Amino acid sequence: MIVSKPKHKTMARNDDPIQVFLSYFEKAKSLELPYYDAMTLATATREGKPSARVVLFKGIIEQEGITFYTNYHSRKGKELSDNPQAACVFYWPKIECQIRFEGQVKKLSDEESNIYWKTRPRDSQLGGVVSQQSQPLKNRFTFLKEFLLLKFKLIGKEVARPQHWGGYALTPNMAEVWLGKPHRLHRRFSYRKDAAGWYQQELYP
Ligand SMILES: Cc1cc2nc3c(=O)[nH]c(=O)nc-3n(C[C@H](O)[C@H](O)[C@H](O)COP(=O)(O)O)c2cc1C
Repeated sequence: MIVSKPKHKTMARNDDPIQVFLSYFEKAKSLELPYYDAMTLATATREGKPSARVVLFKGIIEQEGITFYTNYHSRKGKELSDNPQAACVFYWPKIECQIRFEGQVKKLSDEESNIYWKTRPRDSQLGGVVSQQSQPLKNRFTFLKEFLLLKFKLIGKEVARPQHWGGYALTPNMAEVWLGKPHRLHRRFSYRKDAAGWYQQELYP
């Protein structure tokens, strides 16, 4: 793994942290760690009031970054449209590894969102159409009724992706890899991006 061979210099031009992330992600996946693909996503209002929640990581798009899918009208969707700065963090306790990213978020193209939408189970598509994510729900029955009504209405038909549902990509300009070590002498590798590329330095834990 790239991070197991850090440079001795205090600061160094280094590999893309996305590649480092992918090597740990593949390890977590191959070990079938629970929710290995879950990340905590932090967003903030225009005024900087933060909020965080778990979403599923859905892959890396070259030049664009870390992708996830959600409802564009949800709380996170509204916060991202007002303030596109966000952060996400993965933690796999079994391999004592935490990886965090910060950067700018933008919506994926309709084409990219459509491709992923088509891979979703039909019931998840139906749920995505009827769920007014983050809005108050008077009672659960209302939601289930809306789901079933749509399910019957669309028998034999394709469930089209609604415009309010789609993907985002977080393009990182900061990353950090934390590796747990005995006696709390952990290792931290910080990555920052400038015009020349990624810059890595080790930090005190
Ligand atoms: C393991 C896990 C995975 C989740 N994955 C997603 C996801 O991929 N997309 C999503 O919109 N919400 C996902 N959720 C629900 C979110 O955590 C959150 O409740 C929802 O998106 C509404 O958040 P908001 O009101 O802050 O926008 C997931 C929750 C958990 C616990």
